[in-house]
Amino acid sequence: MSRIISVSNQKGGVGKTTTVINLAASLAAYDRDVLVIDLDPQSNATSGMGMEIPSTGNAYSLLTGATDLEGSMVETGYDGVWAIPGSRDLAGLEIELAQQNNREFFLRDKLRVPEVERFHFVLIDCPPSLGLLTLNALVAADSILLPLQSEYYALEGLSHLLDTIRKVRQLWNPDLEMEGVLLTMYDRRLKLSREVEADAENHLSEILLNTRIPRNVRLSEAPSFGKPVLHYDVESQGARSYLQLAEELISR
Ligand SMILES: Nc1ncnc2c1ncn2[C@@H]1O[C@H](COP(=O)(O)OP(=O)(O)OP(=O)(O)O)[C@@H](O)[C@H]1O
Ligand SMILES: [Mg+2]
Repeated sequence: MSRIISVSNQKGGVGKTTTVINLAASLAAYDRDVLVIDLDPQSNATSGMGMEIPSTGNAYSLLTGATDLEGSMVETGYDGVWAIPGSRDLAGLEIELAQQNNREFFLRDKLRVPEVERFHFVLIDCPPSLGLLTLNALVAADSILLPLQSEYYALEGLSHLLDTIRKVRQLWNPDLEMEGVLLTMYDRRLKLSREVEADAENHLSEILLNTRIPRNVRLSEAPSFGKPVLHYDVESQGARSYLQLAEELISR
């Protein structure tokens, strides 16, 4: 059985894409086969893994039915990691699907095919909104992984997201689980980081993951080389922390 994880937070720049790219490479390092789905019109996960954004054979053509799963999938060049690339066209999908019945189920239905079962993990990179694309991801997913930036206002907006998760469970996907909240860009030397951590421990104790992702310059450099950090600087703190996250997720 594959585990479909939606990496979501409507806040921008909290580390969703960084987590998808590097968790995928780290899971693959533990011999797991991973499919990354880039559901963001910005398509940063696609370019961050060194791929072009194809005009078809991407998340948009999959969702609109122009291509099937096999036809939407590409090899990333990184062992064990496949991808359904993003597309700028995803930006218009919200409006295109607005009139359709079952518009929340488009992605789920496309993923309910035997080909998905060959992957141990499917990671969905969501855009920074709670619109139809993110809803499709949450309805298709078994669980949600929620990156939280160790910054001021980190927890602000979280209740809105937790409300959305409740609504998704009620209406469309009763089995949606919480994979966990991941503290990103954490710097233990900073009082602010430790305060956000304490806050998260108090309010989210049972869903807070043990792994902390440190603020690490190698993590921010790697995408401009089109590489997961494991293939850019394996010794870096960033690489180690995402390997630890992969271990934590595999072991539960
Ligand atoms: N742990 C980290 N250390 C240093 N820089 C990081 C870290 N995580 C992410 N970044 C950088 O912060 C920026 C935002 O990260 P990222 O793109 O992963 O966030 P996002 O949530 O996907 O953003 P968006 O909401 O726009 O899709 C990027 O420039 C990224 O390289
Ligand atoms: Mg992103």
